[in-house]
Amino acid sequence: MLVYKTEEEIEIIRRNNLLVSKTLAEVAKLIKPGITTLELDKRAEEYIRDNGAVPGFLGYGGYPNTLCTSVNDEVVHGIPSNRVLKEGDIVSVDCGTYMEGFYGDTAYTFPVGEVNKDVRNLMKTTKESLFKGIENAVEGFRIGDIGYAVQLHAENAGYSVVREMVGHGLGREMHEAPEVPNYGKRGRGIKLAEGLVICIEPMINMGNKYIKQDPDGWTIRTIDGKPSAHYELAVVIRKDKAEILSTFKYIEEIINIEE
Ligand code: MF3
Ligand code: CO
Ligand code: CO
Repeated sequence: MLVYKTEEEIEIIRRNNLLVSKTLAEVAKLIKPGITTLELDKRAEEYIRDNGAVPGFLGYGGYPNTLCTSVNDEVVHGIPSNRVLKEGDIVSVDCGTYMEGFYGDTAYTFPVGEVNKDVRNLMKTTKESLFKGIENAVEGFRIGDIGYAVQLHAENAGYSVVREMVGHGLGREMHEAPEVPNYGKRGRGIKLAEGLVICIEPMINMGNKYIKQDPDGWTIRTIDGKPSAHYELAVVIRKDKAEILSTFKYIEEIINIEE
C-alpha cells in the first residue's frame, strides 16, 4: 500500500531529515584517524536527543545503536564498536530520527584523512548516481526509471550495484512501500505521484555486486573485500522536480570535498 503524505506530514518528515542532516554534520566534525565508530554513535545519539527527537534505528528490529557505520568493504548496517578509523578508510554513516510520529533517514560516505584516488572516485560516482536517481523521482515517471538512472551512471564508471538492499518509502514507518531498487528498466514498476516520500540510497561496489552478512546478523559486506559507498536522501515526488527533504549542505560545510 502506498501512503501519500499531506503537506503537514511532509513538513514533519522534512524536520526529521533536517535533524538527521545536522546530526551527520556533527559526526563529520569528529571523523578523523583515531576516532572509534562508537564515539561517533554517542555524539549522534546525544545530538538527536538534545534536539527533541529519538534515534530512529535504536531498537528497530533489535538494532543496538543510533548509527550504522560501515567501513571500507562494509556496505551497510555496520554496528558501531571500538573499531578505530584509520587514514585512508571510508565510512558510510547512516542515521535516522523519529519525532512527531514520523521518521528521518539519511546517509553519507565520509573519507577518513587522505583517501586514494580510486576510492574517492567511487564515492563521487555513488553520490552522482543518487542525484541521477533523484532527477527521475518526478510525477508520472516510474520506479524503474530511478533505478535505471542510478545503475547506468554507476556501471558506466565500471562499478556494480548491490541488488539485495534497496531504498524505500518513508513516513510513519522507516520502511514503507514502495521498494526503490538501484537498478532496473525504464518504464517499469509503479507510477510515481506527488506526495509520495521515498529514500533513494544507492550502494555501489568497486568490485562485483555480491554481498554477504556477518555472523553479527547485521553487517553487510562485499564478498570480494573491495570497498563500497552509500549515500541516501529523502525526497518527495513533485510535478516537475523532486523536492529533497534531507541535505548534504551542513556536512559539506564541514568536510573538504575536492574531488
Ligand atoms: N537506515 C537504513 C536504511 O537506509 C536502515 C537501517 S535498519 C537499522 O534503510 F535497523 F539498522 F536501523
Ligand atoms: Co533508508
Ligand atoms: Co538509511
